[in-house]
Amino acid sequence: MALLVKGGTVVNADFTQRADVLVADGKVVAVGPDLEAPAGAEVIDAGGAYVMPGGIDPHTHMELPFMGTVASEDFYSGTTAGAVGGTTTIIDFVIPSPQQDLLDAYHTWRGWAGKAATDYSFHVAVTWWSDSVRAAMGTLVNELGVNSFKHFMAYKGAIMCDDEVLVNSFTRARELGALCTVHAENGELVAHLQQQLLAMGITGPEGHPQSRPSAVEGEAADRAIRIAQVLNVPLYIVHNSCIESLQAITRARNEGQRVFGEVLAGHLLVDDGVYRHNDWDYAAHHVMSPPFRPKAHQEALWRGLQAGMLQTTATDHCCFCTPQKRMGHNNFTQIPNGTGGVEDRMHVLWHHGVNSGRLTPSEFVAVTSTNAARIFNIYPRKGLIAPGADADIVIWDPARERTISKDSHHQKIDFNIFEGMVVKGINTVTIANGAVVYRDGDVRTVRGAGRYVDRPPFPSYYDAVKRAAEVNAPSAVTRTG
Ligand code: URP
Ligand code: ZN
Ligand code: ZN
Ligand code: ZN
Repeated sequence: MALLVKGGTVVNADFTQRADVLVADGKVVAVGPDLEAPAGAEVIDAGGAYVMPGGIDPHTHMELPFMGTVASEDFYSGTTAGAVGGTTTIIDFVIPSPQQDLLDAYHTWRGWAGKAATDYSFHVAVTWWSDSVRAAMGTLVNELGVNSFKHFMAYKGAIMCDDEVLVNSFTRARELGALCTVHAENGELVAHLQQQLLAMGITGPEGHPQSRPSAVEGEAADRAIRIAQVLNVPLYIVHNSCIESLQAITRARNEGQRVFGEVLAGHLLVDDGVYRHNDWDYAAHHVMSPPFRPKAHQEALWRGLQAGMLQTTATDHCCFCTPQKRMGHNNFTQIPNGTGGVEDRMHVLWHHGVNSGRLTPSEFVAVTSTNAARIFNIYPRKGLIAPGADADIVIWDPARERTISKDSHHQKIDFNIFEGMVVKGINTVTIANGAVVYRDGDVRTVRGAGRYVDRPPFPSYYDAVKRAAEVNAPSAVTRTG
């Protein structure tokens, strides 16, 4: 079935043009002025609107088993909520328990994700180390389309990696041409501070940010970056929330190291005042790691995004409803960590990024889609509107407004961290794999229509890292005396 998007302004990360977009069989087949609609094609009027690549959220956790419960959003509801907000691809996380076979976990997550309505892919977490993990990483990269591995430097006693695991896994990832990613928080310090705070009688959600000060994140970011530097491996740091980790990334990039940084919509816009709210449920709904930070950090993160030190935006969409949050009613360390946002990311980024003059529409496309596609090596299939690309497209009306609310959102969570926020510039049509899955409030997603996206190893920056290492390889001195 063909589809012609007529009369809009096509915005790519590096080029904007007035053009029509012709879609057939799930792909973009032509972009240009005054395209003819083939017989039987559906024509969508995009006059006055921006036509942009669908968003890629490189950090979600649908139906994740975590902290004694399971995230409330599943792959169908979550990708549907994403589609309403203009996100057409998610990269979720397979998180094996320590000692669990990575391939087992991978196939379990693949099973769950079969219900996804839009395309999806997986990072796989390395939570322990053995020869079998080493072998499984090879299978995942060479046979199963995984090109990124996640390392949690926090969550001691659960999924935390120590330096030995980091060194082993980074070394293996380098052989395979896979990208190492880290959740950077010093889990040892977090555990220590949690016990101190509980001993002082601080049991409410306000204990959460106090047990995870920004120095804890900065230390881990720096350590991961230095380990990656020594091992000569590219690194991606997820959910940077603070000045300290941004500075670590900035220093490393200024010194020529391939380090990428992600920022969450929530960390750009919500401050730590939420944890001192009088309503326990309200405060607990903001318990996520790293926590929301004092306001000064948000402005720094926006500048990091503008300056290119942070390249991607994500949500860390990991929903827990009120009864789940109440599992920690008398101990903040037992409040499941995480919150939602997959439906709202594009809207809040546009409103607070483009409408404020921080980002151009092309820069918006870069930080919501194209950069993630490049870093995770699915560009130009994703992240671009051009012939041959997947037809994942949003039609964006810059004049229309919406008020974000838990009462109207499609996310399976009874709370929204952006509650009451009025955003101007909204998604009106979402096309995923060539099909209209959302149009003007009408949700048409199909359970199971999403496809698994294979991501090949050795993105081009990886080759550059390896080449540089060869040029600077250790050498012996041949002596004649
Ligand atoms: O609090 C969070 N972020 N929960 C999800 C797991 C993680 O750390 O990304
Ligand atoms: Zn994390
Ligand atoms: Zn996460
Ligand atoms: Zn709920």
